[in-house]
Amino acid sequence: MDKDCAHSSRTRIISLMSASAPMDRVLVKGWIRTVRHGKDITFMAVNDGSCLASLQVVFTPDVADYERVSKAGTGACIAATGALVESPARGQKWELQAENIKIVGDAGTDYPLQKKRHSFEYLRTIAHLRPRSNTFGAVFRMRSALSFAIHSFFQERGFLYLHSPILTTNDCEGAGDIFTVTTLDISDPPVKDGNIDWSRDFFGAKTGLTVSGQLEGEIFASAFSDIYTFGPTFRAEDSNTRRHAAEFWMVEPEMAFADLEENCRLAEDFFRYLCCYALDNCREDLAFFDRWIEQGLMKRLEKIAAGRFETMTYTEAIRLLRDSGEPFEFPVEWGHDLQTEHERYLTEKVTGGPLFVVDYPASLKAFYMRMNSDGRTVAAMDLLVPHVGEIIGGSQREERLDVLTGRMEAKGMDTESLWWFLDLRRWGTCPHSGFGLGFERTIMYVTGMKNIRDVIPFPRTPGNAVF
Ligand code: 4AD
Ligand code: MG
Repeated sequence: MDKDCAHSSRTRIISLMSASAPMDRVLVKGWIRTVRHGKDITFMAVNDGSCLASLQVVFTPDVADYERVSKAGTGACIAATGALVESPARGQKWELQAENIKIVGDAGTDYPLQKKRHSFEYLRTIAHLRPRSNTFGAVFRMRSALSFAIHSFFQERGFLYLHSPILTTNDCEGAGDIFTVTTLDISDPPVKDGNIDWSRDFFGAKTGLTVSGQLEGEIFASAFSDIYTFGPTFRAEDSNTRRHAAEFWMVEPEMAFADLEENCRLAEDFFRYLCCYALDNCREDLAFFDRWIEQGLMKRLEKIAAGRFETMTYTEAIRLLRDSGEPFEFPVEWGHDLQTEHERYLTEKVTGGPLFVVDYPASLKAFYMRMNSDGRTVAAMDLLVPHVGEIIGGSQREERLDVLTGRMEAKGMDTESLWWFLDLRRWGTCPHSGFGLGFERTIMYVTGMKNIRDVIPFPRTPGNAVF
């Protein structure tokens, strides 16, 4: 094999950017971002995704195969060998004086990702190329870094990582937003008593993609005390908003022996940890977002690192909204869900930062949340943040068998199919709590990106699963 083609012999651009001394001979591989021809000298900006910055590769007509190399344009993949020297240009410490450049893969002048600033809408139509742009490079490096931070946070605290199943027969949230998975012939399914006979399907029961790993999380918390899940989650909600996706990633910790207050503390520490992790480890990309996506972003994150999150009950929130005199579009009434405009008012005008809203009306929340002593509210918590809205939803769980069974019956649920969930309350039940953090919404918060479609590699939304 050609030595210069070996993966191990190349140096990543990120290492060269932080070099402490010139180097006689390095091999760099990457994709051309821009080419500028001067008199007898050509400058190529080459990026390999290892960092935001591109390396300036400089060459003269003396370079081997000059005719061909000088024609390489934006998008082409190249391998360049030469000396790393101090750059006389402003804004960059090093450049590569190339002796030899090979074109690994050419790109024609119709390459769709030219230097000009493209709209995010356009870039979504070329999701196979957008990772090569500055913004999406930064977004997906951040996504990778924060994924690692999630594991660090929980592993440092002794939580067990649970792989909850993706295929499941339970609808944890009871919202009916499940994608069905079947091997039945949908043009001619078996029918019994006028309904599809799911007992003849692959799993012998109606099965779908998980909407949450919580119920399995409760099983494992009842054995390992502290656990977390982190994986893909699916919801067939037909809501075409900038913060809903049909496939998104959720982090769900579950703690035995924890009440709502301890649950909020974990959520606060966790969210702060992720913001601090980005500030400490992703400076270059954050500075980019601060400049091009949301001015003041880094200050906002630093504020999170330093401040404490506020808490108010749902009932207090309703009172505040009512007394605000704001002309809300949706009515503010006890028993109604908080709408985006209400969440925005509370976090942007009242607290100016993250806010826990706790103790929601039982009628608004899922069956598993613990009933409070007032008999009308449950020990729920949502963490709301400015601009993104709800980022975390969680609760203390109902650990009392009789109360839980009563709530399921009142909601018209089939207690039979969740027999194992009820068993947890029969044998060694204990108070426990947990929450789910929407990973994409967290990335939106940390990067300032405004649309969930732009923080997940291949967004799945109504009408779109192309790539
Ligand atoms: O509030 P949710 O529905 O809570 C649960 O699923 C619980 N079982 C979690 C738990 O207690 N273990 O969802 C949790 C979070 C939301 O706060 C939101 O950030 C995110 O998941 N989320 C979505 N993100 C993107 N697209 C969607 N369609 C989302 N639905 C929820
Ligand atoms: Mg929720």
